Amino acid sequence: MPPNDIRPLAPIVRDRFPATPLTAISFADFTRTRTYSDLVAYFKGWPRHSFMTDDSRAVLYALIRILRPRMVVEIGTLFAGTAQVMARALWENGEGMLHTTDPFGT
Ligand SMILES: C[S@@+](CC[C@H](N)C(=O)[O-])C[C@H]1O[C@@H](n2cnc3c(N)ncnc32)[C@H](O)[C@@H]1O
Repeated sequence: MPPNDIRPLAPIVRDRFPATPLTAISFADFTRTRTYSDLVAYFKGWPRHSFMTDDSRAVLYALIRILRPRMVVEIGTLFAGTAQVMARALWENGEGMLHTTDPFGT
């Protein structure tokens, strides 16, 4: 069983995300902001049962906040650690749905 380290549902960073259109340059600029540093700190080592790196979780969360997708699809849930990151971003957007699937995981 994965560790039960779910944090309370609360905003991580208040709407400090660049407006779309998103470009490689605008996102690179974003990674040099205080907001991005705060996100990496927030996702440092958490969720423990996510298999991504701290920076990868911060990037994934930020992309969802910036792009505001109506739907996110994850292939490979495992313990839903990374799914929790994406679901929190959608929750903070106030819209969007996460679908996650894994025929082999728990
Ligand atoms: C490295 S884990 C990643 C888990 C999770 N996304 C994370 O970041 O913590 C990869 C997961 O993908 C699942 N997987 C592998 N091949 C798959 C497939 N063809 N379709 C769906 N899930 C698959 C595995 O069962 C495994 O749970």
